[in-house]
Amino acid sequence: MAIERTLSILKPDATRRNLTGHINAIFEDAGLAVLAQKRILLTRAQAESFYGVHRERGFFNDLVSYMISGPVVAQVLSGEDAVLKNRELMGATDPKKAAEGTIRAQYAESIEANSVHGSDSAENAATEISFFFAEIDIVA
Ligand code: CMP
Repeated sequence: MAIERTLSILKPDATRRNLTGHINAIFEDAGLAVLAQKRILLTRAQAESFYGVHRERGFFNDLVSYMISGPVVAQVLSGEDAVLKNRELMGATDPKKAAEGTIRAQYAESIEANSVHGSDSAENAATEISFFFAEIDIVA
């Protein structure tokens, strides 16, 4: 197994309910380390750019509006198979389909307000990490 990095975002519904510590404890208990973290209010242009791959989807405008509706916490997680491990911890995008015990099953309010985002591949993780962090910000 390889030590990987992945990009995680705690979404506005999570920061609004003060869940940063709860969700970080889930990551840390599973062996993922938070190497970098910052709480920010995205601009519309930043959110559109980050989610650019979804630009043609019907939910794009609502997704962007949602992601700028409150602070998010962007984070770099590291650990063995971090990309897959984080996706397993998050559970399915739609909380109705998320397995019991996953972050989205526990905390998500809807498919849009689904508490967390996580990179879906190591390649996308590198791109998404560089969207938020410079290498100098990431301390292993
Ligand atoms: P995320 O992993 O951040 O990637 C894109 C986001 O779009 C997704 O989580 C959901 O929160 C949001 N979204 C809203 N509606 C849908 C939908 N119908 N299908 C997939 N994602 C959706």
